[in-house]
Amino acid sequence: MPDTRHRNIVILTGAGISAESGIATFRDKDGIWSKYDLEEVATPEGFYRNPDFVHEFHNGLRESLQTVEPNPAHRALARLEAEHAGEVLVVTQNVDDLHERAGSRNLVHMHGELYKARCDRCMHVAEWRTALTRAVPCPACEASAAMRPHVVWFGEMPMEMDRIYAALAACDLFLSIGTSGNVYPAAGFVEEVRRAGQAHTVELNLEPSEGVSLFAETIHGPASTVVPAYVDSLVGA
Ligand code: APR
Repeated sequence: MPDTRHRNIVILTGAGISAESGIATFRDKDGIWSKYDLEEVATPEGFYRNPDFVHEFHNGLRESLQTVEPNPAHRALARLEAEHAGEVLVVTQNVDDLHERAGSRNLVHMHGELYKARCDRCMHVAEWRTALTRAVPCPACEASAAMRPHVVWFGEMPMEMDRIYAALAACDLFLSIGTSGNVYPAAGFVEEVRRAGQAHTVELNLEPSEGVSLFAETIHGPASTVVPAYVDSLVGA
């Protein structure tokens, strides 16, 4: 019988949900941060020091999105949103578009999106699916060398935080999927939910995360296996 006790579900996802689609995670063995110094490619200081290198890093990630597909975990979350009677909000740390392509609509990209670029001068945000370089003028204000990836780097403020905290305070089920619990504020969301005191909290991850002890329930295994099974338990197989 489906577990229909919960009305408002908030789901935090991290790189682990996209791992089986072929997108590298950050902190696993052979992860992105074992190949690149995050200070050089994922901070504003690194960008202003060497914009061409940072553009090249993000262009490589953006290009890799052309060859990957959503996996059963992304599709299960889209099914949950479509079939669950209450609210389902996915808050992703990922900058890929796999949740959208799987069908999720109620979605926040708190770390931005690879398929968007932003003008440092006028803040215009444009859809961007090709390589980005300093030579590209802003499509809105025509400023030169002002476009940057619309992604959140270390030391910058994640996006839509007010909306996220309001959803965390109102939810009665919080799922954390495929994240190591290393990076705040996302790593602190489970504590926000516990402070509100009304939600069941579940970690679904390949292995115990840094914050595993904060969750009432933990389910360890590959996302493309454990997430569809968990969604089945909520809305029926
Ligand atoms: N299924 C489920 N979980 C998986 C799988 C899988 N197939 N493969 C890996 N994982 C788990 C790992 O065990 C790890 O806990 O996914 C997690 C990935 O952790 P990170 O690489 O640290 O990625 P994430 O937690 O999303 O990083 C958060 O840090 O570098 C910044 O901005 C970047 O958004 C990113 C943030």
